[in-house]
Amino acid sequence: MKIAIPKELHQGETRIAASAEMVKKLVGFGFDVTVEKGAGAAASITDKEFKDAGASIAASASAALKDADVVLKIQRPSADEIKLMKKGAVVCAHMSALTEKADMEAMAKAGLTVFAMELMPRISRAQSMDILSSQSNLAGYKSVLDACSEYGSAMPMMMTAAGTIAPAKVFIMGVGVAGLQAIATAKRLGAVVTATDVRPATREQVESLGGKFLTVDEEMEKDAETDGGYAKQMPPEYFEKQKAVVAEHIKKQDIVITTALIPGRKAPILVTKEMVASMGAGSVLVDLAVEAGGNVEGSKLGKVVKAKNGARIIGHANVPGRLPKDASQLFAKNLFNFLSPHVDKEAKTINFDFEDETVSGTCVCKDGALVHPMLTGKEA
Ligand code: NAI
Repeated sequence: MKIAIPKELHQGETRIAASAEMVKKLVGFGFDVTVEKGAGAAASITDKEFKDAGASIAASASAALKDADVVLKIQRPSADEIKLMKKGAVVCAHMSALTEKADMEAMAKAGLTVFAMELMPRISRAQSMDILSSQSNLAGYKSVLDACSEYGSAMPMMMTAAGTIAPAKVFIMGVGVAGLQAIATAKRLGAVVTATDVRPATREQVESLGGKFLTVDEEMEKDAETDGGYAKQMPPEYFEKQKAVVAEHIKKQDIVITTALIPGRKAPILVTKEMVASMGAGSVLVDLAVEAGGNVEGSKLGKVVKAKNGARIIGHANVPGRLPKDASQLFAKNLFNFLSPHVDKEAKTINFDFEDETVSGTCVCKDGALVHPMLTGKEA
């Protein structure tokens, strides 16, 4: 059985869906693993490392993908890549399946069996397979460092002979995986940290990391979480109240990091132009939701925007890709943890158990058709 890892083609993608450790384990199962030449270069993983782990190095994408039974990618394949894959091949990647339905249909038409890793159910057993968690954690960490590098002052309080520097005030909006890591990182750097989220369960998590929780409306927040642990779309009254509470708080902040996402929908606007204008001249905002439409009014994908009052809004694309080596390693481990329970060691093949909810929950195309209930509309 051939497993292929091609070079990523999306502009600005620095990651690769493999690590030397993962290749070694797959080769240990008796699989032929092929990595495209230079595919790990942007993540500082050399062809030699892959070769030493037992992979073959293919000179081109077509050579890597030819006859591959399983294709592992970071981003969903392009139309050109799909043409290079054989009918029946399994493809695992972050597919953006809920927003890119036409691409899912194209893969179904090509007869591919497609697993959208971002749809991994939020059950404890699946934590080690969850690409959203592994990548968001790194994004949360990097967002604080990105903010620091734009911020013209220090993060911790410093008492020096020349005078005392006040600690930076950091406000985190959205306390999921990225937000929690941002809180922890900002605390480690010595900032004074506050945070808010629609899900009330996050209060305790914020406090356990030494942050202070900013409550918007306790009553409405009682029903803010889905059974899957995600935020629900909140009613307009909530946003009105959130705006007022946040507007007062934001005026006094030096750094604001926003991470609020609603799966399959545009990200909610949490910081308006007026709120940005109310902040101090050297303040910094990081919009980690910029790829989903943004939480901060005026943020621009891939840009650092300077507002009239001097505040800067950071909208870096692909933040996990700014730590490409760690991000690749964790992504690869997630893929390995997803595949390995289904490996038939005797037959040296992979037989997916479609009764397993990590398989049925992520499979979007099979046998020439879209099969995921969130895409077919046949949700139970
Ligand atoms: P996410 O990336 O979808 O959203 C980030 C955060 O934004 C969430 O905490 C959400 O509640 C918040 N948010 C949404 N709308 C908001 C608004 N209007 N105002 C303020 N905040 C808003 O969430 P993420 O990071 O993927 O995690 C969601 C939950 O799932 C967490 O509780 C996490 O611990 C849990 N989880 C469970 C896993 C498992 O059991 N396998 C794996 C990963 C996460």
